[in-house]
Amino acid sequence: MAQRAQALTPAPRRRKWEWPWWVSPAGTVTALGLFTIYSLWETLTHSSGQYHNYLSPFFSPDVRAIGIQFLPAIWVVWAPLLFRATCYYYRKAYYRSFFSDPLACARPERPGRAYTGETKLPFVLSNLHRFFFYVTVVVMAFLWYDAIRAFIFPNGFGVGVGSLLMLLNVILLSVYTFSCHAFRHLIGGGLDCFSCSRGPILRYSLWKTVSKWNQEHATWAWLSMFSVWATDLYIRLLISGVLHDVRLF
Ligand code: FES
Repeated sequence: MAQRAQALTPAPRRRKWEWPWWVSPAGTVTALGLFTIYSLWETLTHSSGQYHNYLSPFFSPDVRAIGIQFLPAIWVVWAPLLFRATCYYYRKAYYRSFFSDPLACARPERPGRAYTGETKLPFVLSNLHRFFFYVTVVVMAFLWYDAIRAFIFPNGFGVGVGSLLMLLNVILLSVYTFSCHAFRHLIGGGLDCFSCSRGPILRYSLWKTVSKWNQEHATWAWLSMFSVWATDLYIRLLISGVLHDVRLF
């Protein structure tokens, strides 16, 4: 009888191999910590991010054109950085990883701590996310202008490694920015009828695209952060003479 019951019980499924639990929070702390330190070093110790037709994303738009010479980057990076700091995905990532309170949904709170969400300072400021979105869209327009300008060399059109990096960077930043939850609501929310006239029909098709991008928002968040980092580092190394730009044609 016991043998029969054993035969009827399905064999336990072998679990897929998984990373140890601490790899994800440790990776998040390392990557975000290093990026923050790098950003502070870049913005607080350099007065320019320009190398010929390349402009670092940390320094765009170039406020030196309107006479601001003192630490020009800090006049612009506050908006994209606050946009990231208040991003729904990053909030989850850094709150869990830096404060481990708790580390994941199914974990208990640490003794004596209670998650208060966005109801108290400083996290209540996360509610300003959509306003940082509006400012970041303006910055994006300048970044696209810079990316196009990166293909215009003194002797005409050309392609350098820097041009390609800047183009890739602005594409990744655009997908990250426009896969934002706040934008998804802006484009598709507040409508009673999607098919009543041409405006809502257009909004509905945009909303479907944004929704697809939104499903991978975390991926775009990481890829775009690394592309900003790589683009800035490449231009910084060109400025300091450590590297020479490679012209592909
Ligand atoms: S939710 Fe991540 S950028 Fe808006």
